[in-house]
Amino acid sequence: MSKLVHAQWSSKMGFVLAATGSAVGLGNIWRFSYLVGDNGGAAFVLVYLACVAVVGLPVLVAEWLIGRRGQKNPINAMSELASKNGHPKAWALVGASGVVAAFLILSFYSVIGGWSLSYTLGSVIGTFTGQDADGVAATFDGLLGNPGLLLLWHTAFMVLVVWIVARGVTKGLESAARIMMPALVVLLLVLVGYGMTTGYFGETLAFMFRPDWSALSGDVVLAAMGQAFFTLSLGMGIMMAYGSYLGEDVKLLGTARTVIILDTGIALLAGLAIFPIVFANGLSASEGPGLIFVTLPLAFGNMTGGALLGLTFFLLLTFAALTSAISLLEPVVEFVEERTPFSRVMATLAGGMAVWVLGIAALMSFNIWPVPIMFGLNVFDFLDTFTSRILLPLTGLGAIVFVAWCLDRRSVADELNLSGGSEQLWHIVGRYVAPLGVLLVFINSLMG
Ligand code: PHE
Ligand code: NA
Repeated sequence: MSKLVHAQWSSKMGFVLAATGSAVGLGNIWRFSYLVGDNGGAAFVLVYLACVAVVGLPVLVAEWLIGRRGQKNPINAMSELASKNGHPKAWALVGASGVVAAFLILSFYSVIGGWSLSYTLGSVIGTFTGQDADGVAATFDGLLGNPGLLLLWHTAFMVLVVWIVARGVTKGLESAARIMMPALVVLLLVLVGYGMTTGYFGETLAFMFRPDWSALSGDVVLAAMGQAFFTLSLGMGIMMAYGSYLGEDVKLLGTARTVIILDTGIALLAGLAIFPIVFANGLSASEGPGLIFVTLPLAFGNMTGGALLGLTFFLLLTFAALTSAISLLEPVVEFVEERTPFSRVMATLAGGMAVWVLGIAALMSFNIWPVPIMFGLNVFDFLDTFTSRILLPLTGLGAIVFVAWCLDRRSVADELNLSGGSEQLWHIVGRYVAPLGVLLVFINSLMG
């Protein structure tokens, strides 16, 4: 991006669309709901909400602020801002670790994007019509157990992502988000409405919001914090890169609030849509990464107009996944472009290929290569867990610590339009609460 003329977002709306395009994706629907189910419901949800508010918001603002001041890609922005403020250039590591994280995340994200594509087609050809829980589970197991098929869909998804990034049509995609995102919300509302007819909506509300604190553990808290980073696209330099296109007139705090409310709202709606189906069909909430793929088709297969709704839903989910995926490929491409003589198209192909290869290792976790490779986790789980729970929080921590400790306090306050008590609050949260929160979560989970 830095090779281009550093244009600015034409409007605040354009920026919000790009940022929510990156934020809203599989993380909100696929990942959020399966983690809620795996981690015992409300305790996880409430810790997650706290993480979003106390850590996610300040880190998001910090990343935008660094990007807007640095006017560069994350690595160069960090090293230049650091030396300008009398700090070591090693801060560039924060930017570099973001590139690594984006690379690792996209590899498994694309596998799930492939599932979503496959379910879009499945809805078209009526695979789920009238099926019961066993039938839907068998369909999903059939997909998982077939590495060739998974490879096909993973490849299709990556081809779409690479094509969009290479052609540079991301802007067009972002304006399409103007229609697609509200449509996704409407469909989720329809599904929540369906959930209310199942007779299990009360149980869902209790599951998601009435905490059984005995379910809480260091691991659950770490998972919740990781999800807060993942869902907001934090700790990858992506929001920093977006910030570099941000005009001076855009209010960072207010915009962050908008993006966070949209992202969190969509995740909560997804939960409210999925768990009634889980309970009504006697399914297991802790099904794991397959949760939405063995629940939603049941609803679509058994409601009036379900075929069309299912098709629309998986199409919109794929679209949301694509807008997130292009934002993940972007930093990788930029990295290759700056360090090799490759053109943008070549850099995109090379970056995309590398991601695609790692994605193949990830998809084999579901069939021919399920064995643990590290920390008792298979490739897929390792990529998913290591990035969200460790890499993203550490990098995000770097961003907030840098802004709160290394930049001039007064100028940051001015930039955020803060004064008096609210400035104090920002200062304390940025300096102590958010960084210590992240560290405590780490320590707590290390101790079991
Ligand atoms: N935030 C996206 C989601 O929730 C995933 C993502 C993570 C996108 C990191 C970009 C960077 O699906
Ligand atoms: Na998200």
